[in-house]
Amino acid sequence: MIIVIANSKGGVGKSTLAVHLAAYLHEQGRSVTLADCDTQQSSSEWAKEAVPGLKTVRLADPDDILDRIPILGQQADYVVADGPGSNTETSRALLLRGDLALVPCKASMLELRALAQATHVLRQAQDIRGGRPRAQIVLSMVGKHYRLTQDMKDAATALDMPLATTALTLRQIYADAPGQGAVVWQLGARGREAADEVRALFREVLPDAAASASAPAEVAETAR
Ligand SMILES: Nc1ncnc2c1ncn2[C@@H]1O[C@H](COP(=O)(O)OP(=O)(O)O)[C@@H](O)[C@H]1O
Ligand SMILES: [Mg+2]
Repeated sequence: MIIVIANSKGGVGKSTLAVHLAAYLHEQGRSVTLADCDTQQSSSEWAKEAVPGLKTVRLADPDDILDRIPILGQQADYVVADGPGSNTETSRALLLRGDLALVPCKASMLELRALAQATHVLRQAQDIRGGRPRAQIVLSMVGKHYRLTQDMKDAATALDMPLATTALTLRQIYADAPGQGAVVWQLGARGREAADEVRALFREVLPDAAASASAPAEVAETAR
């Protein structure tokens, strides 16, 4: 399964989501490749430190992406592709190959409105491919006292993209994690609440990926 983390706006939490998702899938015993498709290449550096056993590749060229993503997809249970901030052709190539697009979006009406533009390429791909990739919005950097307003639900409905029920809260620990070369559940008690919400999110958006859901044989082996 090829999962693309997509939103053509920068600073919305794509790399944070991509690295945590790749680390989570790896820990569930799945074979996973993180495809770092941003020219800044920060997520592959971070992921290598946080999860030394994780396979990472850097793919920033649209032709490379179109050619190699299917092969990477055959070699692993999951490919998690961290998308670029602004390079439209790179995004297009990813979305023409992806099975699922997770679209992190900051929790504000302005940001949700901006999504119409920031997901234009996604909708083109869905139009061409008969609805694929399936897409889901993940609210990120949500304030503690935030409430999802009807306006925001309507905006998501207008985009025809379901909102994940679990949101990622604005927490310092997420911002600290890359500097520590870690994901939040490796950061002890300070990371506990973040760890709980981020794992809950992944269980929600990828219910089949959890180790308990038809664990691959070798994981069952080690667990014994
Ligand atoms: N839930 C969060 N709470 C606090 N800071 C966050 C959160 N998610 C991301 N950040 C920080 O916000 C910045 C942008 O996030 P990043 O994942 O790099 O976004 P993108 O890849 O979309 O540019 C980074 O400094 C990151 O550490
Ligand atoms: Mg990024």
